[in-house]
Amino acid sequence: MKEKICKCIANTLGNLSEYEVMKLIEIPPEDKMGDFALPCFSFSKVLRKNPTIIAKELKGAMQEVQGELGIEKLEAVNGYLNIFMNRTKYIQYWIDKMKEPEFGIVKNGSGKTICMDYSSPNIAKNFHVGHLRTTVIGNSLYRIYEKLGYKVVRINYLGDWGTQFGKLIVAYKKWSDEATVKEKGIEELLRIYVKFNTESEKNPELVDEARQWFVKMEQNNEEAIEIWKWFKEISLLEFTRVYELLGVSFDSYDGESFYRDKVPSLVEELKNKGLLKESQGANIIDLSDYDMPPCLITKSDGGSIYHSRDIAAILYRKENYGFDKCLYVTGVEQSLHFKQVFKAIDVMGYDWADTLIHVPMA
Ligand code: ARG
Repeated sequence: MKEKICKCIANTLGNLSEYEVMKLIEIPPEDKMGDFALPCFSFSKVLRKNPTIIAKELKGAMQEVQGELGIEKLEAVNGYLNIFMNRTKYIQYWIDKMKEPEFGIVKNGSGKTICMDYSSPNIAKNFHVGHLRTTVIGNSLYRIYEKLGYKVVRINYLGDWGTQFGKLIVAYKKWSDEATVKEKGIEELLRIYVKFNTESEKNPELVDEARQWFVKMEQNNEEAIEIWKWFKEISLLEFTRVYELLGVSFDSYDGESFYRDKVPSLVEELKNKGLLKESQGANIIDLSDYDMPPCLITKSDGGSIYHSRDIAAILYRKENYGFDKCLYVTGVEQSLHFKQVFKAIDVMGYDWADTLIHVPMA
């Protein structure tokens, strides 16, 4: 707008460029003197006219076009041309601009991929406020990155593997039945899960039983896997209901169970790289050089754990999505977990380990 005004003034005066006018334009010290002011003193020699007259003539000459230039009022005062902008028009101009979908966007992410791991609730457990937090923060980050032109892969890394399923299977067999679970769904699963926890305090053998059922799951026992799948479906139904309420969706629901069978090749790789150490029957990566507790890879029974499944997931994501960055939105309690996991990738010799980013929520 200022440029256009300067151009108009330059044309009216003749023999001047808009830039020369631009250099002279001032912002008056007081509002009542306008938004801009042009001192006309320097023109008087060339034009052989009194600055007061020059200001008046400019005002007269510009009156016809001032509306188009967004000017509300012009005043010629003591050799100055005071310019009052039409603020309503000016503000409206910016409001309209801001409504344009691409307003203020720098497409610095084009051609780049970001994996985002967020929400990631645990199947057969409660979707608690912490999960709500990662869901909405993760979704906001997704929308920002997408606007910046990144390709974002939204990953819901479901906690769908672990001893909680052993507990649930025991509880189901003891205190529930097919018909009730079918009728009540998640509500019934939560009821028996809570019951298991109170009962097992009095009766610790229940925990052993649960562990045995989980071992069966790990060994792909048909009955165990069938119940697990069924319970997972029921939980997912509930989670999807919440996501629909929030208007959130995902590109992948590959959770912990998806990476179980990818841990053996990770173990191989670690062995070949001389990074795997045995410790009390379990396999670990020693991270003492980095002031961190060891990163557990397999339990003494050979089963995978949270850490190793996460490492396997990183390698899988790198290979399949070719990410430039991979973000994890979780509670701050998991900071050490991610430090260990990212360090493991680093000591394995992957020079992109620093593209793994934990976004902790305090
Ligand atoms: N399921 C976990 C929890 O509820 C969060 C998983 C975060 N993502 C990951 N890749 N470890 O606490």
